[in-house]
Amino acid sequence: MQRKNKQKKILLLALILVPLLVVAARAEDRRVLQCRVLARDFMTELKGELQAALRGGRLVPALSVCSKVAPELAERYSLLPGVEVGRTSERCRNPENRPDSWEKEGLALFQKRRQQGETLAGMEYWQEVDDDEAGEKVFRYLRAIPVGSLCLRCHGENIDGNLAKALSQLYPEDEAVGYRLGELRGALTIRLSP
Ligand code: HEC
Repeated sequence: MQRKNKQKKILLLALILVPLLVVAARAEDRRVLQCRVLARDFMTELKGELQAALRGGRLVPALSVCSKVAPELAERYSLLPGVEVGRTSERCRNPENRPDSWEKEGLALFQKRRQQGETLAGMEYWQEVDDDEAGEKVFRYLRAIPVGSLCLRCHGENIDGNLAKALSQLYPEDEAVGYRLGELRGALTIRLSP
């Protein structure tokens, strides 16, 4: 009799818990999907602007396009309610993009996964974390940004003299040089608040 009661209790508990877990998993899936769409759109737009600017062949004007366009795009995407989009890196050109502790952890994890043989393209990391300031749970998402050939002109080892001069004027604390093809340049970072 007691055993039957126990079984009933377990069954009841399962009936309550399983749908709750399914709902929680779906909510996470939805947020991951939302981040993927945001990340894809953001990177496509940015790359389009960058390619168009570089097509002109003049690097210094391309640089000013680049230094304005990325922050503007990030601002525009962050107008969506509850969404914040940006770029970050272990070695930043713009100090405003420096990673916070959660982002640092994610970037280090990307480096580790790359060393273990995983490809950077499409590499992601996400987590629901407590936001100390707002006192609520937020969903955070990182997507790796690898160095492509297009990037080397401004982030590579041999940067054109005039460009290097313009860069050091605009970004006196620039750490985002000396990269090689295929390395981890940084990550797109997204934060979703409830
Ligand atoms: C024309 C020069 C130029 C090219 C080409 C370029 N970048 Fe940048 N990059 C910049 C500038 C300028 C910034 C600083 C933007 C800012 O102020 O937020 C920057 C910043 C970044 C950041 C944000 C972190 C940081 O260092 O502040 C990432 C990530 C990044 N670039 C990745 C790339 C990738 C990937 C490519 C190739 C697809 C690329 N860049 C090509 C000039 C360039």
